[in-house]
Amino acid sequence: MSTAKVEHFERLRGNLRVPGDKSTSHRALMIGALASGESTIQGLSPGMDVTATAQIMEQLGASVNVRDGVVTVVGPTNGLRVSGDVLDCGNSGTTMRLLSGIVSAIPGEHLLVGDPSLSQRPMDRIAEPLTLMGARFDGQGARLSAPLRITGTDVLRGIAYDVPMASAQVKSAILFAALCASSPTTVVEHVRTRPTTEEMFSRAGVSVVSVESGEGRSVTLHPGRPLARNWLVPGDPSQAAFFAVLGCIHPDADIAVLDIDSARERVGFLGVLQRMGATMTLRDHDSMTSLTVQSSQLAATEVHASEIPSVDEVPVLVVAAAAAKGVSCFRDVGELRVKESDRFEGSLLLATKLGARAWSEGDDLFVEGLGSAERFSTFDVDAALDHRMVMASAVAGCAGGGCSIAAAETVASSYPNFFDDLERLA
Ligand code: S3P
Repeated sequence: MSTAKVEHFERLRGNLRVPGDKSTSHRALMIGALASGESTIQGLSPGMDVTATAQIMEQLGASVNVRDGVVTVVGPTNGLRVSGDVLDCGNSGTTMRLLSGIVSAIPGEHLLVGDPSLSQRPMDRIAEPLTLMGARFDGQGARLSAPLRITGTDVLRGIAYDVPMASAQVKSAILFAALCASSPTTVVEHVRTRPTTEEMFSRAGVSVVSVESGEGRSVTLHPGRPLARNWLVPGDPSQAAFFAVLGCIHPDADIAVLDIDSARERVGFLGVLQRMGATMTLRDHDSMTSLTVQSSQLAATEVHASEIPSVDEVPVLVVAAAAAKGVSCFRDVGELRVKESDRFEGSLLLATKLGARAWSEGDDLFVEGLGSAERFSTFDVDAALDHRMVMASAVAGCAGGGCSIAAAETVASSYPNFFDDLERLA
């Protein structure tokens, strides 16, 4: 276990490219493994989560190789097959949930395991629809957590399913299984989550139709095998969020983050920071966004979960709220409780450690900011196997009075070079 000491840096300057988008990276590997023949992926995320997906695709019969920074995936002509070994998803919920959809359509028994964080996360949310399609699930406790035994079948049925929570992972697990079902599947979501799966399927030749209504969307997929193709992975907006907040709350910063995915479901945090008064410029180009951000005096705001579906950026926005003037409110963010750690409690604790007043009412979280990161206290925190809590804490420490983060190596789940990139800006 390693403890990271983060110091306050006097001045932050520079341009940065964050790692390839984690969501796109997992799906490019999975779609490549399901297709017949060779796909290539440029810009794959170097994180351990994505490495876990690559290893499992190999266990199921695909080959994955890296040459000159380009990843080649070759899917077997006769399709993926059951592996005799345990499929270890590590810390990665996306791996476990999307993989559950894939193996539901591979006849035989599959055993999916994860680290202590992943083994506490609810898997009933995917087990319910996938069981309706014809797979069998055995897991631990009422929420069917890992270890997860899944019995797959080649006679899955298409379903019509309303996803009860805002979750791209649940939608995607169903859509992956639906590729092999005997009839079309329709997934309805009441809050639009990231469209990565349906858009990538469509680009791989699968027939998917997306219809938006109100705040939601329905996605109908006709079964079919994806085609092999070349993928270019944009930068990960959820990683850019750490530097966007850092640039705003640090007293002497001028930094740029280049070429991130610009899907509107992913960049809600930019709108929140602009509303708070961030000095920021955005430039859109080729379905990507580049941003520059400078030290700003932030004011409190109200954020609804639907503005940031998946709530990945909430912990670092809580840090922004702790530096802002006034009381910020994050409404309906209960999903934070079932991430890599309980980020609801973790975010409250972090804000409190910084010296801000923070409290909750039901699923709403409130932070009364200190008006400036220069008033942040120096603090110690334990990352509790949660990469995003490591990075949110580091942002607070770097802008404020420094911090010490126990078990910080967990940052490698998504961003192995995070601390190097942070130091480069200094
Ligand atoms: C992801 C979906 C989100 C997000 C995760 C990646 C994906 O999870 O938190 O980091 O790639 O589909 P939920 O589906 O649980 O919101």
